[in-house]
Amino acid sequence: MIKIAMFDTKSYDKPSFIEYGKQNNIEYKFFEVHLNEDTAHLAKGFDGVCVFVNDVVNKEVINILYSYGIKLIVLRCAGFNNVDTKAAFGKIHIYRVPAYSPYAVAEHAMALLLTSNRRIHKAYNRTRDYNFSLNELTGVDLHNKTIGVIGTGKIGKVFINICRGFGMNVIAYDKFPDQSSDIRYVSLEELFKESDFISLHCPLTEENKHMINDETIKTMKKGVGIINTSRGGLIDADALLKGIKERKIGFACLDVYEEEGDIFYQDKSGHILDDDTFRNLISMPNIIVTSHQAFLTKEALNNIAETTTENIVKYFANEVNTNEVCYHCANIENCKKKRKLQCF
Ligand code: NAI
Repeated sequence: MIKIAMFDTKSYDKPSFIEYGKQNNIEYKFFEVHLNEDTAHLAKGFDGVCVFVNDVVNKEVINILYSYGIKLIVLRCAGFNNVDTKAAFGKIHIYRVPAYSPYAVAEHAMALLLTSNRRIHKAYNRTRDYNFSLNELTGVDLHNKTIGVIGTGKIGKVFINICRGFGMNVIAYDKFPDQSSDIRYVSLEELFKESDFISLHCPLTEENKHMINDETIKTMKKGVGIINTSRGGLIDADALLKGIKERKIGFACLDVYEEEGDIFYQDKSGHILDDDTFRNLISMPNIIVTSHQAFLTKEALNNIAETTTENIVKYFANEVNTNEVCYHCANIENCKKKRKLQCF
């Protein structure tokens, strides 16, 4: 029986992991706490560790896990910006779930755009209070509006198709454009300048951290709507707040936030939030926050458990697995996966 310590577990994670675990002789032990320097000791005696987006997998945590003989970390998410892949290299193999449902995230991004544009969140609250006034609820037709999509991978492409269904004019920017597609690529500068709405679907890297900042916001259209279902660090939250206050940004929809680690996935009602920027953002009438829930569909949860379990099985069978990630992922020339080898 393979024993896996699963951190940051929520009730909705358990059923599919228990099921796939049973089928593959894997015992998942569910911990509710995040993995970090203080909780890493809980993994002692386990064969591997399973983490999520807000678990801390820095150099210190990696060294603690390695000292317990752990050589496997499986991420039950696609992004791996929370893992110090350089520190793990040569010690601990890291696997992720590269795709579990691009539809879940893309559909959520569109739900946020529709909700903000047509003020559905306001209408819902008003009518519950028997307020049937339409003042301040005016939106715009999405038809013929220009949407700028940053990142045209699995999720970006599904989102583009949804937008096309609405008759929107789609332009896109990707560091590695898909030349075989019919997507209209433009420079990032042009995208910022021309878009009525901007939706982020690229990973967070060192190079694109705070790509939405004071300077880039200045170049955008007045009234632009920004949707971020990707990673919080892509947006400088203080610049976003300023843009909202100056009425430059028409609305923002945030499923992710740079400092979400201590906030999201928890019931904080009744608490006073220490993060002033986040409190101010949430209090704005034209900002919608969902707490990193874009992935949350039944299909995605099932696919996450299935692929994570497969990643574990393949690791212990010593099989090469393209879901492995290491710090060479950012530098494709050094990528061993391309030569069908393990990362190390
Ligand atoms: P993907 O790997 O299929 O596509 C990412 C695209 O971004 C690629 O086409 C890549 O060339 C492009 N890219 C890389 N660096 C870039 C840069 N600096 N600027 C512009 N484009 C760049 O990934 P997928 O599955 O489409 O996911 C996209 C992102 O969505 C993930 O990195 C993750 O951060 C986020 N995500 C959020 C979820 C949520 O629940 N909110 C769930 C799943 C993913």
